[in-house]
Amino acid sequence: MQNQLSLANWKITNPSVIKFLIKIKRPMFLLFILLFMVYFAIKSVVYFADNTPAVLDSENKPGGDGSVSFTPFPSFMKPASNLNKADLPMFNAGKALAHQPWIKAPTITFARDGLGPLFNARTCLTCHVNGGRSIMPVKGDTRLDTAFLRLSIPGVDTIHGVIAEPTYGDQLQSQSTSLAHMFRHLKGLKHSVAPEAYIFPNWVYKNFSYADGTKIQLRETNIKLTKLGYGKMHPETMMGLRNAPPIHGVGLLETIKQADIDKLADEQDINGDGISGRTNIAWDFEAKKPVAGRFGLKANKASVRLQTAGAFHSDMGLSNPIFSSQSCTENQLKCNNEITGNDKEGTEISKRQLSLVVDFIKNLAVPKRRNAEKTSVLAGRSLFYETGCASCHNPSFTTGDDKDFPHLANQTIWPYTDLLLHDMGEGLADGRPDYLATGSEWKTPALWGIGLSKKVNGGQNFLHDGRARNVEEAIIWHGGEAEQTKQRFTKLNKKHRTELIEFVNSL
Ligand code: HEC
Ligand code: HEC
Repeated sequence: MQNQLSLANWKITNPSVIKFLIKIKRPMFLLFILLFMVYFAIKSVVYFADNTPAVLDSENKPGGDGSVSFTPFPSFMKPASNLNKADLPMFNAGKALAHQPWIKAPTITFARDGLGPLFNARTCLTCHVNGGRSIMPVKGDTRLDTAFLRLSIPGVDTIHGVIAEPTYGDQLQSQSTSLAHMFRHLKGLKHSVAPEAYIFPNWVYKNFSYADGTKIQLRETNIKLTKLGYGKMHPETMMGLRNAPPIHGVGLLETIKQADIDKLADEQDINGDGISGRTNIAWDFEAKKPVAGRFGLKANKASVRLQTAGAFHSDMGLSNPIFSSQSCTENQLKCNNEITGNDKEGTEISKRQLSLVVDFIKNLAVPKRRNAEKTSVLAGRSLFYETGCASCHNPSFTTGDDKDFPHLANQTIWPYTDLLLHDMGEGLADGRPDYLATGSEWKTPALWGIGLSKKVNGGQNFLHDGRARNVEEAIIWHGGEAEQTKQRFTKLNKKHRTELIEFVNSL
């Protein structure tokens, strides 16, 4: 397009060209134009061929041999299809622990109590709906419980990654076991332990215009907190909203050899492509040493097990073998004095219960591709490579060994992530560092299954805080290291933009 335009300008402004054109006959002129068109067509085909790898059969099964079909019931809670039949009862026991609500202690059953006193939700799957992501309220003045705020104050702590806000801790819990909170409609009830605050997304809207004039609306949060339960926060408190990401396929991601991820890192951007992924270094609370982070939106968790133990502790207020305290800070006296649901192992979650949930999460299947053979999807696939998406959304890995779950080992998988941190610019920054990740760095999320979000979760809420309502909005928010790629996307014509989005939705 650009070349044709400049040719037109050159024609009009240069009188000697006009003389030349008058001299030669019309057919000659048409032949000239034809040759030009053939030249550009060949050039673009060669360019695509350079950037777009051949389609492989394995792409249809992004989760390797364990990939599952998602008809007729779309859900990310299915077991990998190659999970040993003998392991299915274990999978289902873990699912029950992740799915059924936990309750306040004391109760007659030790097995399911200990919730809170402060918490965000009663089950893992309240937030990870059907194993997928959580849904943001459409209206800005609806209360948020399934996404939460991370809190910290300036300073460095290589073990915890951040220095927690002194009164509220490093995560704002919007619920408590207090009757006054649970029966909010009943007047006169007093809080035993007050929730820390109620969170509202308070959406702010703006428009974005493409070069071709197409307009879309974007929204972002302008978090509003009400009913702060424990007085003012530290004046320098940094806050970061986190929407629950999908959790299928994390077992496969865990088996990838670190060396294969390190190969993709380019911290100093030596290849000069403007993209410089790097590894976050998080603390392994079991091995008691720093290790590469792979889970969490800023890759601040070392393993699925640590992520799960952290979720039990902070998201549901359940002490466990790795994080054995209640999630109350020293300044929350009533919270510390509440009755616990500790069992004979001295915590609310036993070793066995923790392992069951970890194993359940690790075996959640990845969906097979849909519409992968469609012409428009294949065209979108080329554009995905062409515009540079694949530089961060690294298409494929081969998994390493897994002695507990051999079916997860040595699989060719297509997650579309490099599991590295990238600076995504001011528009996406939360200004809150975590271990090595700066306030504007985020881990590239896997894209497998993203096209099923609406069916699985009942809505689409993409990016770390769920602001994007579809793939297109998510792309437009890309900045920083992804700015050039985003620009290339916005310069595509509408047909090509639609094809690229169709490809992402086929993953
Ligand atoms: C209150 C909502 C909520 C609950 C309850 C919850 N999660 Fe999460 N989960 C999140 C959020 C938000 C993140 C991202 C956190 C971050 O990066 O800071 C997350 C991240 C994860 C991840 C990392 C995924 C990835 O790709 O990096 C896993 C695994 C996970 N949760 C498992 C669990 C399990 C298991 C439970 C139950 C024991 C649980 N979650 C309970 C909200 C929740
Ligand atoms: C520089 C690295 C980089 C490039 C290039 C890049 N992305 Fe991303 N992408 C990310 C990161 C990091 C996030 C998470 C940002 C956040 O949550 O704030 C993300 C998020 C997304 C999401 C939302 C996923 C979710 O689960 O919320 C989609 C969709 C997406 N990218 C698609 C694309 C497409 C399509 C392209 C090419 C046009 C592209 N990205 C280019 C790094 C990149």
